[in-house]
Amino acid sequence: MTYRQNVPCSMFHVSCFMTDLIRDNIPNIRFLSDMKDFVFDVAWFEKAPNAEIYYMYRGLSKDKNEMEIMGKNNLRYDITVVPPKMLGSEFTKTIGHEHAIVPNTNITYTEIYEVLNGEAIYLLQKYENNKVTKIYAVHTKAGEKCVIPPNYGHVTINASNQELVMANWVESHFKSGYTLFKNNRGAGYYALANVGTKSLQRDLVPTNNAGIKWIKNENYGEVPDIKISEAKDFNWLCEKFGIDPAVPMYNLVNDIEKLDFLKHPQKYSWDR
Ligand SMILES: [Fe+2]
Repeated sequence: MTYRQNVPCSMFHVSCFMTDLIRDNIPNIRFLSDMKDFVFDVAWFEKAPNAEIYYMYRGLSKDKNEMEIMGKNNLRYDITVVPPKMLGSEFTKTIGHEHAIVPNTNITYTEIYEVLNGEAIYLLQKYENNKVTKIYAVHTKAGEKCVIPPNYGHVTINASNQELVMANWVESHFKSGYTLFKNNRGAGYYALANVGTKSLQRDLVPTNNAGIKWIKNENYGEVPDIKISEAKDFNWLCEKFGIDPAVPMYNLVNDIEKLDFLKHPQKYSWDR
């Protein structure tokens, strides 16, 4: 059975839009067994039965014409569905990845996400000289967007009790890397449920979400403090590229030159 037989219907317009887009598409499924090197709660993992964790629909379009526009512009529109679930004491998440370096530059490709249903926490971590120098947890609600800037790896966490459905635009040819997250067993912080057991009490950092305890990932040695943020804190980044943070970003298929920053991030200033 694939996820498309279970499309969430909590928001009618989102569900219709999604159904249109993902119809006849078979998702790639990330299973728990694929997440062995990324989860926090190893003791739980070792006893847990294998299960479907999230669903990735790649290269979607509403019609052939729009698919052609995307193809000609080397851009892809994807949807990922992350049902609510606990991975032991940790909230469910994607395994995380780094983007490839743009040829003849020293910066990586970028990406833009939009939450279609539920709520995401985008954990973004910046790499400089093989060190993680900044970490943000960006709380992003339905309709909001989150840009992944150059040289940031990212993990998406669903710490809500709703089905997270999110879309992304990205350059269509580069391959993501998983090594850094794999070698360190995930990102610089884990989002654990705030249940107060003894094993979860170490190394806590402040959060604006009472349900989450952020635990430093000791495999990194040192990590910077996590900056708890909201999507709206970064609306200026969307606006810089002429993208209205309040308008569904699928529509950019008809304004596709605005997505040039995904293909040529080196042409743009990323400072405020
Ligand atoms: Fe990405």
